Amino acid sequence: MTETTRPDPHSFYEEGQPRVTSLDWHIGDFNFTEMRMPGIAIWTFDGSGPTHLDMRGLEIIAIKDSHGDYLEYAVSEPVAVLGQRLTITVPEDKQVQILYRTSPDASGLQWMDADIAEGQPFVYTQGEAINARSYIPCQDTPSIKFTFGASITVPFGMRGLIAAAEHKTIVRQGNDTSTETWNMPYPVPSYLLAFAAGNLVSADISERSRVWAQPSLVEAAAHEFADIPKLMAAGEELFGVYPFGRYDVLVMPAAFPYGGMENPCCSFLTPSLITGDGSGLSTVAHELAHSWTGNLVTNADWDAFWLNEGWTVWAEEKIVAAVYGQDAADTNSRLLQREYELDAQNFREEGKFFLTALAHGYNEVDPDDVFSRGPYHKGKEFLRCLESLVGPSFQEKFVPKYLETYRFRSLTTGEFFRFACDELGVEVMNAAKATDWLYEPGIPSTAVKNSSAVVKRVEDLARLRAIPTGGEWTTSMQQLYLELLPRPLSPMMLKSLEDRFDPGNSPSIEVRWSYLMACIESEHFIVLTAVEHLLRGTGRMKYLKPLYRALTKTEQGRAFAERVFAEAKSSYHPVAVAAVEAVLA
Ligand code: BES
Ligand code: ZN
Repeated sequence: MTETTRPDPHSFYEEGQPRVTSLDWHIGDFNFTEMRMPGIAIWTFDGSGPTHLDMRGLEIIAIKDSHGDYLEYAVSEPVAVLGQRLTITVPEDKQVQILYRTSPDASGLQWMDADIAEGQPFVYTQGEAINARSYIPCQDTPSIKFTFGASITVPFGMRGLIAAAEHKTIVRQGNDTSTETWNMPYPVPSYLLAFAAGNLVSADISERSRVWAQPSLVEAAAHEFADIPKLMAAGEELFGVYPFGRYDVLVMPAAFPYGGMENPCCSFLTPSLITGDGSGLSTVAHELAHSWTGNLVTNADWDAFWLNEGWTVWAEEKIVAAVYGQDAADTNSRLLQREYELDAQNFREEGKFFLTALAHGYNEVDPDDVFSRGPYHKGKEFLRCLESLVGPSFQEKFVPKYLETYRFRSLTTGEFFRFACDELGVEVMNAAKATDWLYEPGIPSTAVKNSSAVVKRVEDLARLRAIPTGGEWTTSMQQLYLELLPRPLSPMMLKSLEDRFDPGNSPSIEVRWSYLMACIESEHFIVLTAVEHLLRGTGRMKYLKPLYRALTKTEQGRAFAERVFAEAKSSYHPVAVAAVEAVLA
């Protein structure tokens, strides 16, 4: 097997092999004590003959044809990053049934005890980037899409959700379990294959949207996310009819490692978005925007991750500007720039600044290990640069043509480059310095200059260390101000901040986190109790990684960080544990 025959370096799938087109998936009988789940995956392919699937830590029980006769297969030795290669020969009728079992250390599953999830245990998946292979043997590459039907069997009293357009049935099996069936008629890649099972209830927001949450949160969630129909209307106005039928959201347990995950028809969201002030809606706008940029038009490999995230931030900002105004979009945009700058700085210190190239080609590692705001901020700025050169026709002609051309398909950075050259002209791409954006580190000189008055006001006040007075200070403005205040902050400054905003008690975890970061960076260790509270109360990596990293800069901080991590670790998701371990190492 040579490298060149694998179109996606993160999958064992080889060019020309039969590709999956649909799945019939049966899961359930979760063993929460052993943290294992049995599954049956019935795959249909577009042809017959030998092919490769990806798996990591799965135990294959049997592989059969559609008549139930056993098929031969081979499982390779584990390979770093990729996992194991499963080789099968697809029979003439193109169907293969795989009976398997997951392992307790599956990187794409988090199992939670009953006390965490309101009296019932909870289990859920996180497939992106390459973790789906730990809960289903699959062609785990975003270049291949398939439709699916699924059934999920859960203990009676629990709900089993699958991220899919159609909920078909719930059937009670005796006194112990119930089985829910789902159908997904729109093709999606493996990283979007998702489920959650737990004590979940729902509340309708509109005819095509509902929130799912644990009972104690559902009312607050329905209230917090009541604007979803407005966001959808703005999205449809900008990008055309919503492509996936329903759009629901599921409020996850606090350990969820991301702000949101755009699982199809049902975004998974961190519960910390529920603040009462609606400040989490830009994250919902982001996950919703992925319905067009990511789920409909998808990066074909993880080196093109910026096509998912850069386009989605671009789209999110348009939606936020349409619904909440340009100031809100600009403030969020400046916050993302700040996150990018910190990531770029860390990469620089680690000698990995090359990772700020949009297409860096560093495929030897797990995409999760090189995650940064590069694809988000720089990807979006690249698109803004093209937009500023092209004018209104970028949004009016180029974007619809892009979405139309690649709908329900995937593309690489190279394909995007050729498409943009054809549609926008080589002159525009040269004027933008497109190849610098894509293949060189850092932000090219062609980036659009920001001109937001509200951002400038916050920047000026922060630079002068002036305490803001008067006017309305949104959650995002408060956070931006805290982020931009020069370090270290004097004890007097901290006192004034507390008097003005009381950031340590803000309903927004974003504000609390920025404040605690500023305190740690100023060696103001009186806040350690609050830091511990935050580190134990959330599993979102966006907060954990920088906080743990900031703590390691002093002896006292490091000792504290190591103790808290040792104690909190078992409540974090496997990917978050790995990320924090890397920070503490
Ligand atoms: N798709 C991402 C989350 C993700 C990325 C999971 C890579 C696994 C690997 C999601 O859409 C996202 O970008 N979430 C952001 C939201 C923010 C930009 C508003 C997050 O969690 O921070
Ligand atoms: Zn995203």
